Amino acid sequence: MIKVLVTGASGQLGKAIRALAGEYPEVSFHFAERKDLDITEKESVNALFSNNHFDYCINCAAYTDVEQAEKTPQIAFEVNERGVANLAEACKANNVVLIHISTDYVFDGRKQKGYLPSDIPNPINQYGRSKWEGEKRIQDILSEYFIIRTSWLYSQRGRNFYTNIKKRAALGGTISVTNQEYGCPTHADHLAKYIMDLVDGEKKSFGIYHYTDGEAMTWYEFAKKILLENRMSDSVRLLATKSYPSVAKRPALLTAY
Ligand SMILES: NC(=O)c1ccc[n+]([C@@H]2O[C@H](COP(=O)([O-])OP(=O)(O)OC[C@H]3O[C@@H](n4cnc5c(N)ncnc54)[C@H](OP(=O)(O)O)[C@@H]3O)[C@@H](O)[C@H]2O)c1
Repeated sequence: MIKVLVTGASGQLGKAIRALAGEYPEVSFHFAERKDLDITEKESVNALFSNNHFDYCINCAAYTDVEQAEKTPQIAFEVNERGVANLAEACKANNVVLIHISTDYVFDGRKQKGYLPSDIPNPINQYGRSKWEGEKRIQDILSEYFIIRTSWLYSQRGRNFYTNIKKRAALGGTISVTNQEYGCPTHADHLAKYIMDLVDGEKKSFGIYHYTDGEAMTWYEFAKKILLENRMSDSVRLLATKSYPSVAKRPALLTAY
């Protein structure tokens, strides 16, 4: 059996991995929600690792509130840098391969073509900085790791852009969505499958990878797609706006390959 720890298991990606688990009978999963394992608590992390013999740790735990991270950056760094370092150190001490999820927000969005894993990060907001610091800590501590940068994660579960648009459309009226930022929406189920292929598929070299669903669009275009897919285009008026009320600076063009 391959033993896999999944941290942040009640988040969007954690749930997507949990939904796939049945397809991997040769994998024994240990799903740890935040209440089971807070990655900022070093002693709890060490205890869990030394009481189990994990082969992989898939880190889905993260501080993901981009707006709030501007107001209380220390919390974002506590989880996304120091919590990640705790996991990396425990992985090193116990010979566990870390699969860590990062973000295209480590880039500034000024590149006109898609970002490559070898491009130099230059985050422009606190969330992006905290995720970039987490990546650096992993690279300092470990040699056996996968860092997977993804973008605009969505799914039909929980709270995210996809479910928010559906919810708003159900109320009718007008929805205003910015058409100024570009990104690649990525279904959490597709990313979950990509991650599980690292665990139980063709072996890849350790290092940094980019994974998205590949099609770049604005938030407005994405909203339009969601409404079409759910046959809700007639029930609501979708308005493209230039601005987006955001405390955090947001990269304008993020397509990662
Ligand atoms: N969502 C996106 O659009 C997006 C885009 C690019 C990259 N990513 C990256 O993809 C990964 C998964 O994102 P997601 O959308 O699944 O995020 P999510 O839904 O916000 O899930 C994150 C999970 O981490 C948990 N968590 C927070 N602090 C923790 C701590 N100290 N210890 C343990 N667990 C903790 C959260 O628990 P609570 O809910 O209890 O706080 C939540 O269950 C993250 O690394 C994120 O940075 C996301």
